Amino acid sequence: MQRAIRVGLIGFGTIGTGVVKLLKRNREQIRDRVGVPVDLVRIADIDTKRDRGVRLAKGVLVGDARKVLDDPSIDIVIELMGGTGLARRFMLEAFKAKKDVVTANKALLAHHGDEIFAQAEKSLVEIGYEASVGGGIPIIRTLREALGGDRHQAVFGIVNGTTNYILSRMSQEGGDFQTVLAEAQADGLAEADPSFDVDGVDAAHKLTLLIQLAFGRKIGFDDVSTEGIRKITQDDIAFAAEFGFVLKHLAVAVRHGDRIEARVHPAMVPRDHALGGINGALNAIVLQSEALESSMYVGLGAGMMPTATAVVGDLMEIARNRLHGCRGRVAPLGFPVASLVKAKPIAAADAEGTYYLRMQVADKPGALSHITGAMGRAGVSIASMVQRGQKRRGSATVVFRTHRANHRALNKAVTAIDKLATVRGKSVVLRIEESLSG
Ligand code: HSE
Repeated sequence: MQRAIRVGLIGFGTIGTGVVKLLKRNREQIRDRVGVPVDLVRIADIDTKRDRGVRLAKGVLVGDARKVLDDPSIDIVIELMGGTGLARRFMLEAFKAKKDVVTANKALLAHHGDEIFAQAEKSLVEIGYEASVGGGIPIIRTLREALGGDRHQAVFGIVNGTTNYILSRMSQEGGDFQTVLAEAQADGLAEADPSFDVDGVDAAHKLTLLIQLAFGRKIGFDDVSTEGIRKITQDDIAFAAEFGFVLKHLAVAVRHGDRIEARVHPAMVPRDHALGGINGALNAIVLQSEALESSMYVGLGAGMMPTATAVVGDLMEIARNRLHGCRGRVAPLGFPVASLVKAKPIAAADAEGTYYLRMQVADKPGALSHITGAMGRAGVSIASMVQRGQKRRGSATVVFRTHRANHRALNKAVTAIDKLATVRGKSVVLRIEESLSG
């Protein structure tokens, strides 16, 4: 039996620092649980000078990733450099050298998962990617192993901590999107370039992975209809509250026979829904399954130490599998890559839902009849309407809630409404999620 597991880390940023801290802090416990010490022997990062607040033995931190990849004594590579270029190359190289890989890189796996998972399988090595979805929440292991015997109809939830933090702050303390985002950035709770988070791209990456794990079907990242939270205003938050809803940024995947509906967008969720109380940087993932029925998994979905727990958990599992000669025990997605069939996505325009529409309307006789006429002609049925005084001189804010409508029909109505001379600017459209049980 090997006397220690030797690990190399590429990328010494926030999560990498958390991994170093956790491996140091819980060294004895990790050794006892695995059976041998798990030694972090090398760390590669282009910045070898910055003080990360952790002490390293001399020679551990290097500026060249080759010193990790080309070292035959390193068993497992942790890839935390991010991106889809070099990270992909390094990962494939590590597999070919029979090294296992642990990563948090959902962008890489969402775009190149086919190639990466197939290569891991072919090389009989392991890839751990628990940290790529839900931070510290063990949702990947849950889907891949614990619930492997069940069939899932839906997987949905809040999978981006930054957007959840911003929407929670906007709801609880007020402030517009830009101000709250700037404060979150100043507090280190949002990235300097927040676009992947606030435009929904990060959540769509995660949903692409969850779909494969839950349904054993694959859809392309581009098949996920993706919308972010930049357009959300205090008006929408106030109307949502008045109707008994809260605004959340959701990732939703539903299986309809062989087809999959996959979407990421802000939505109004009933205040008393299980997801309604998930605030701050928390993530929550709900599964609807045939045997287990509804289950929810909650925890911190971002941040140094929560995400580090997922990386270290993968490291320990792979270390054990190496020691017991059973690498490749479970296929990375829970299904052999060859058995994953491509599912036909349901286009966003073909999906159905109930909607909230907010618009600024000239306070003139007949203005409303033009709007309701456009909705009627498109086949969209109105469930209720609220008009709020004269916000700006001569105009009023009008909000409609629709009955269940086809998205294509709704778009047709909105296009016609936004062309009306009595409507100012563009209407805001948000989904209302009343039927997601959780
Ligand atoms: N940026 C992500 C989030 C964390 O805000 O949830 C990493 O997935």
